Amino acid sequence: MNRTYAVTGCASGIGGATASLLRERGHRVIGIDRNRGGGVDVIADLSTPQGRAEAAAGVRERTAFLHGVVTAAGMAGLSNIDPALLVSVNYFGAIDLVTALKPLLLQGSSEPESSGHGSSVVLVSSTGITASPGWPGHLADTMLAGDEEKARAAAARTSPVSVYPATKAALAWWARTVGVKWAREGIRVNAVAPGVVDTQMMVETAADPVFGRFADVYPNAIGRRGRPEEVAEVIVFLLSDASRLMVGTTVFADGGTDAIRNKRRPRGPGTNRVTATVADLAIRGSSKVFSLRARS
Ligand code: NAI
Repeated sequence: MNRTYAVTGCASGIGGATASLLRERGHRVIGIDRNRGGGVDVIADLSTPQGRAEAAAGVRERTAFLHGVVTAAGMAGLSNIDPALLVSVNYFGAIDLVTALKPLLLQGSSEPESSGHGSSVVLVSSTGITASPGWPGHLADTMLAGDEEKARAAAARTSPVSVYPATKAALAWWARTVGVKWAREGIRVNAVAPGVVDTQMMVETAADPVFGRFADVYPNAIGRRGRPEEVAEVIVFLLSDASRLMVGTTVFADGGTDAIRNKRRPRGPGTNRVTATVADLAIRGSSKVFSLRARS
């Protein structure tokens, strides 16, 4: 089955591995990156609204429909990086582009190659969202609210190392809020959260004079970093029909980092609160009523 996908950040690392795997499997990929490189079709800087508009126009010139979009373009929260730029590239560079490409995804969802299962968006988040301590949740909320200038101003007052997980959490939250509603229109949105992966980004992180020593601070259960091809396998699965029940979720592809850091997650709403006890009593009460009715 030959499908058409757009992949950002495809000049390097996870985006590059995803584009290669999709092409190996016979799909057409429209690659987007600010840098030239093998497999890059559209050169655009996703840090600005104009660059995102150019990226969307470049995709539209090449296809009238898309079966999926992967947003892998991103930057690490290094000590010399403008935190406002992180907000613009990591969050708005993904969400604005996906939103601009929605008409093509809608078109793709009704193409015969979709086999009635719709189209799929995969946002590249990070295990930092559950492994990094104390990042500002209000900043992620500001991004979700959609005002880029306000979010950039809030980020400018925060250290880049804290802004990075906030940008990645905002992507995961967008998948659960706006994205989850797209499913009814035939577009599934999910996120993937890689752990530490051997790419150019990790080389730069390890060389950072301030944060370099924290590059490998996240524990994992497999005793090694991930490889971009391993994350690409998960992304390609999320694009495929095999994942058709998965909507609005974040898949951790991190060798166990999230599990080690958060031993009692996931949790239900109100877990560990008084409300949970009240709900439990109510459920037990109604089951007594049911069993009395069943006996009589
Ligand atoms: P990478 O540095 O190898 O690739 C990132 C790509 O994004 C590059 O080709 C770069 O040119 C492109 N890019 C950056 N800014 C751009 C812009 N303004 N406009 C267009 N393209 C731009 O990094 P890697 O590791 O492959 O990262 C891919 C994604 O995975 C990123 O979103 C990153 O945050 C995320 N991630 C990476 C992890 C890692 O350990 N490497 C861990 C968790 C998440």
